[in-house]
Amino acid sequence: MIQADLIISGASELVTVAGERGRPRRGQEMGELGIIRQGALAARRGQIVWVGPTEELTSAVQAMAFAKHIKAEGKTVLPGLVDPHTHLIFAGSRENEFALRIQGKSYMEIAAAGGGINATVNATRQAGKDELKRLAQRSLDRMLSLGTTTVEAKSGYGLTLAAELKMLEVIRELSAEGPLTLVRTFMGAHAVPSEYRENPEAYVDLVITRMIPEMGARGLARFCDVFCEQGVFSVEQSEHILQAARHAGMELRIHADELTDQGGAAMAARLRARTADHLLFANDDGIRQMAEAGVIAVLLPGTAYFLNLQRYARARDIIAAGVPVALATDFNPGSCMTESMPLIMNLACTQMRMLPAEAITASTINAAWAVGEQDRVGSLEVGKQADLVMLDAPNHEHLCYHFGVNLVEAVIKNGKALVERGQRR
Ligand code: NIG
Ligand code: FE
Repeated sequence: MIQADLIISGASELVTVAGERGRPRRGQEMGELGIIRQGALAARRGQIVWVGPTEELTSAVQAMAFAKHIKAEGKTVLPGLVDPHTHLIFAGSRENEFALRIQGKSYMEIAAAGGGINATVNATRQAGKDELKRLAQRSLDRMLSLGTTTVEAKSGYGLTLAAELKMLEVIRELSAEGPLTLVRTFMGAHAVPSEYRENPEAYVDLVITRMIPEMGARGLARFCDVFCEQGVFSVEQSEHILQAARHAGMELRIHADELTDQGGAAMAARLRARTADHLLFANDDGIRQMAEAGVIAVLLPGTAYFLNLQRYARARDIIAAGVPVALATDFNPGSCMTESMPLIMNLACTQMRMLPAEAITASTINAAWAVGEQDRVGSLEVGKQADLVMLDAPNHEHLCYHFGVNLVEAVIKNGKALVERGQRR
């Protein structure tokens, strides 16, 4: 008999997203959720030890003394959501820009007039580590209550060596203190800071010769990201920065073709980046090359919605081309102020015509691949971490379909119930 200290039984749908393929899911695989009806799951010391139909539970699994038993009749259980693209650490807020955009100003016009990323840079440089941690913790609590258990978090509102180090240390400490798992990305090339406006090349040089070697030596970041965009960092500059980051031991991700077609998708393929993100303006060649190189597309429909760009990434074409798709919030104070993965999943369906099953794959196993955590999280399989979400809904479609409300009733992280009856414990 298998011994378990956590048992979940009777789920109307247990969405396992199981079936290791040694790579993220693409094409029609994105619609395969491995659903067990009347499903059950058992875990011990934070690890999944058994998954199957509830009628086989008692003959396979023995509850240890003090085991927790969650009855999931009429509910849907799925893997904890993974948010693979956030700008979690920042001080201040930019609701003034939200109002300006409603009045017709564009994101880039506002940035050029002294708002934008550099406004958040000023606030973040002034904030101490404790302040940044307190602010991020509030966002992480919101994420957890909405079903997210693993989060990628970027630096990029410091833009000096000291301030970038401060941000990455905050992310490291937040992850160590738990309960959420955070994956760290260095994004010194998020914007050219205002003090370098007359000499952006000197800033690129600072990123390459000072910041990246320091982050590499301290092991502070697993990934390096660059905002490759007209008026921000060119393809050539981005490529130099990313090559240096790879040399320093980091894996690569790219804000690519978000507002204009810069050939960012093709660059991601050329550099064998793990992900290319946004991709609203990615061209067909770039998408094809991403498929060949195995680059994951991280799509961020919340940003297109919040900036009212009247355009979304071509998810259907991207999936048809064989590129694995993941979804993320892009949580940040300027272009997407939300911690909610379920909202993003709803937008993915309504605005990019992804099916609910595809949106779930993109927010679980493919998102886990997008941050390199696929061996630990992203599916409900024996040996993986017991990170899971229980919805007050009879099937998985409700997570995308019933929008603007929180259906998350319970969240288990590492085998521990952190949210129960919709309340943080
Ligand atoms: O992903 N594109 C660049 N970075 C963010 C926006 C950050 C900000 O406006 O503060 C994004 O959209
Ligand atoms: Fe972003």
